[in-house]
Amino acid sequence: MLYILDTADTEKIRRYTYYFPIAGVTTNPTIISKEKRDFLPLIKEIKGIVGDSRMFHIQTTSQDADKIIEEAKALREIIGEKLYIKVPISQEGLRATWMLKERGFNVTETAIFTQQQAMLAATAGADFVAPYVNRLDNIVSDGVNVVSEIVQMFKLNDIKTKVLAASFKTVEQVHKIAMVGCQSVTVNPDVLDQLIYHPMTMLAIDDFEADWKTVYGNKSILDLIKE
Ligand code: E4P
Repeated sequence: MLYILDTADTEKIRRYTYYFPIAGVTTNPTIISKEKRDFLPLIKEIKGIVGDSRMFHIQTTSQDADKIIEEAKALREIIGEKLYIKVPISQEGLRATWMLKERGFNVTETAIFTQQQAMLAATAGADFVAPYVNRLDNIVSDGVNVVSEIVQMFKLNDIKTKVLAASFKTVEQVHKIAMVGCQSVTVNPDVLDQLIYHPMTMLAIDDFEADWKTVYGNKSILDLIKE
């Protein structure tokens, strides 16, 4: 599973890339706006944290294909090879997708709500498609089922585009995504915290520590080996 961090909060990116096996960062205009910072220093700082080995997905703000290309070119000057241009699906977005691919860009087609949007994006050459699970659930659709059908459809048709499931609120949504064979998720830090937490795990760790101390006190394994 590729776990990607869905935030532009640099402190959180620093913290979560330190602890978790994070493959990259995704942003969108809403996520960027929340930081209330100048755009250029913000994306440079994020790039500095994620480094050259992790992906950095940045969404363009223009809704015109030619302008999307110009934004992408300017972003690539700053971010380099691991930049993924996020393009919301639309006619201009689709045109921008194949034009970006012709120019050697990585592309993530975003704001995907249906299976056929995903198919069109993949056919245009997108590297990732990002279906919005929780937003689908919120409109009494079934986010997991949409992702499941996109995964199956790509498999059946031998399509290499990856499914980057997005928009999560619960552990259950992330788990069900994994159970339908989806290869990648982008989750915000709160959901990542929920994914690792279980009260029984905390209890088990406390019990291990208490039992150890009844015999060895505050000495660690290293203390005992070096004695
Ligand atoms: C990521 O690509 C999406 O923009 C993001 O996951 C949307 O999440 P939200 O529905 O919580 O805003």
